[in-house]
Amino acid sequence: MGNGIAHVFAQSGFTVTLIDVNAAQLEKAVITINKNFDRQIAKGSITEEAKTKAISNIATATDISTGVQQADLVVEAATENTELKLKIFKQIDEAAPAGCILATNTSSISITKIAAVTKRPELVIGMHFMNPVPVMKLVEIINGYATTAAVTNTIVELSNQLGKIPCVVNDYPGFIANRILMPMINEAIYSLYEDVAGVEAIDNVMKLGMAHPMGPLQLADFIGLDVCLSILKVLQDGFGNPKYAPCPLLVNMVTAGKLGVKSGEGFYVYTVGNKEWVVSDRLK
Ligand SMILES: NC(=O)c1ccc[n+]([C@@H]2O[C@H](COP(=O)([O-])OP(=O)(O)OC[C@H]3O[C@@H](n4cnc5c(N)ncnc54)[C@H](O)[C@@H]3O)[C@@H](O)[C@H]2O)c1
Repeated sequence: MGNGIAHVFAQSGFTVTLIDVNAAQLEKAVITINKNFDRQIAKGSITEEAKTKAISNIATATDISTGVQQADLVVEAATENTELKLKIFKQIDEAAPAGCILATNTSSISITKIAAVTKRPELVIGMHFMNPVPVMKLVEIINGYATTAAVTNTIVELSNQLGKIPCVVNDYPGFIANRILMPMINEAIYSLYEDVAGVEAIDNVMKLGMAHPMGPLQLADFIGLDVCLSILKVLQDGFGNPKYAPCPLLVNMVTAGKLGVKSGEGFYVYTVGNKEWVVSDRLK
C-alpha cells in the first residue's frame, strides 16, 4: 500500500519520502512504482515525461525520524498491528514538525486510539486508500474523536487533488468499508459452511446478480483470509455484537494456513501462470 500511496502523491506533484524499516522493501517498492507507471504509459494515461517527473519526486529513507523531519503530512501504512502502529505514531509525533498532519491507512485500528498516543490528537486522521491505490478512486477519510474540521477539510481537498473521491466517516469499528464488506464476506462463508451453495455458485450470484466485479469468496482470498478474520474480530469486540462472529470455516482455514492468494490456496487454488479460477479440492 505504501508504494501505491507514494505513487499517487508523486504523480500529483508532491515530494514524497517513502520510509520502511526494511531497505529491501524500499528497493522492491521503487521497482513496483516504476512498473506501475509503465503500465499507465502503455495505457496512454500518462507520458514518459510525467513518469520521469513523478519518480524524481520520490526519495526513500529507513529511519522515521529523518524521513518525517520536513513533512507537512505523514501517511502511515505499516503492517496492521496495533502495538506497532502506536509505537510508530509516538516516533512520528516526536520527529514531525508542529502542525504536520498525521494520517494512517489502517483498515481496522481505531484512529482515536492511535491519536491518543500523540501530543497532537486533533491533527490525526484516517486516510484509508483502496488497493491498488493508483487505480481505485475511493479514499475513506476517518475522523478520530479529536480530529478538527479544518484537518478533515485539508485532507478532503488533498484527496481531490490526488484525483481521488473522498468519503468522510466517523471512527467506529470497521469504519464504513469493512463494516459492510466483512459481514458480507462472512455471510458468503457461512452460506458455503451451511452447504447452501458451492464456492462458484456463491461468487457467481454476487458477480452476475449484483454486478460485483469479484465474488465475495474470491475477494476474501485476495484480501487474505487472516486479514478478514482479524477485521471480523475487531467488529465483534468493538460492538460486542455476536452478529459479527467469524464463521468457524474461516477460523479453520486460517488455522490450517489457507490464507488465500498469498499462501497459494483459500477458497480457490492459485498456481503461478494460471489465470483460471480453480476451486480448492477441499471445498468441492
Ligand atoms: N493490502 C490492502 O489491500 C490494504 C488496503 C487498505 C489498507 N491497508 C492497510 O495498509 C497498511 C499496510 O498494509 P500492506 O498490505 O501494505 O502491508 P505490508 O505488510 O505489505 O507492508 C507493510 C510494510 O510496513 C513495513 N514496516 C513494518 N514495521 C515498520 C516500521 N516500524 N517502520 C516502518 N515500516 C515498517 C514493512 O517492512 C512492510 O514493508 C495496513 O495498515 C493495512 O491494514 C491494506
